[in-house]
Amino acid sequence: MIQYLSFDRVADDYDATRFLPEPVREAVVEQMISTAFLSGKDWFLDAGVGTGRFALPMARRGVNVLGVDVAGNMMRRLFQKHPPANLYVARADLRRLPVRSRSISAVLVAHVLHLIADWRWVLRECQRVLRQDGVLFLLYESGKRFPAREYYIQLAGERGLLRPTLGAQSTDEVLEFVRDLGGAVTLIEHSSLQWLARRTHREVLHELDKRTYSQLWDITDEAHHELMEQTRRYVREQFGSEEEMYTTEAVVKLYAVRF
Ligand SMILES: C[S@@+](CC[C@H](N)C(=O)[O-])C[C@H]1O[C@@H](n2cnc3c(N)ncnc32)[C@H](O)[C@@H]1O
Repeated sequence: MIQYLSFDRVADDYDATRFLPEPVREAVVEQMISTAFLSGKDWFLDAGVGTGRFALPMARRGVNVLGVDVAGNMMRRLFQKHPPANLYVARADLRRLPVRSRSISAVLVAHVLHLIADWRWVLRECQRVLRQDGVLFLLYESGKRFPAREYYIQLAGERGLLRPTLGAQSTDEVLEFVRDLGGAVTLIEHSSLQWLARRTHREVLHELDKRTYSQLWDITDEAHHELMEQTRRYVREQFGSEEEMYTTEAVVKLYAVRF
């Protein structure tokens, strides 16, 4: 049985299909630094580091970073971005972190727990490696409801084509579990974590066509081409042109957990 989903297969397209603006990424890092009082003496663990969306700006601010991921291809992408010398990576499974207990000042888990069947064990591992005064950050991007994407996913869902979620089913389920582990949860709210996401329908269609979203990985080429055709028709009927720009509110939900 599959235990987790590695992103090796989509590493080359990952960054081009995740548009978190740089000022928002910087704001996330700033919020984590001020919440956990991080400095150059601290270690920050990015659990499921991927291509380093958050690890890179954190390391550039002088905090020591360890990124852990199972996908070598994702981390290769990270290294193509010339990380500073205080960013280290380890290819390992988050269910067994290669890190001493109580040695880390802050851990970030961003968009990972839905991919791992035994996600609860990952959170136990995060708790184990955190120092007593350490902070676990859980990050979720939400909003970004682009009509073409919504339509495609709705059609695929109706036809039973979406891959069932392997790991955590919802944020609430994760928060409930960290509370069971003794964690006190705070939502960090700040205007810098909100933005207006703007894309043409064509850009959204192009992203969908890459199928980097793990929900779409089981859709056959044939079914995908048909879904894309229908989605293009929907866009033309509803909006006239694929070139039309669409704007939608987006927000990063950043939770700080102290055990
Ligand atoms: C959706 S990406 C998120 C990457 C990064 N946190 C970000 O927000 O851009 C999920 C990452 O988790 C990694 N992953 C999945 N299961 C894992 C596991 N059991 N151990 C380590 N990494 C895992 C994938 O390979 C992928 O790089």
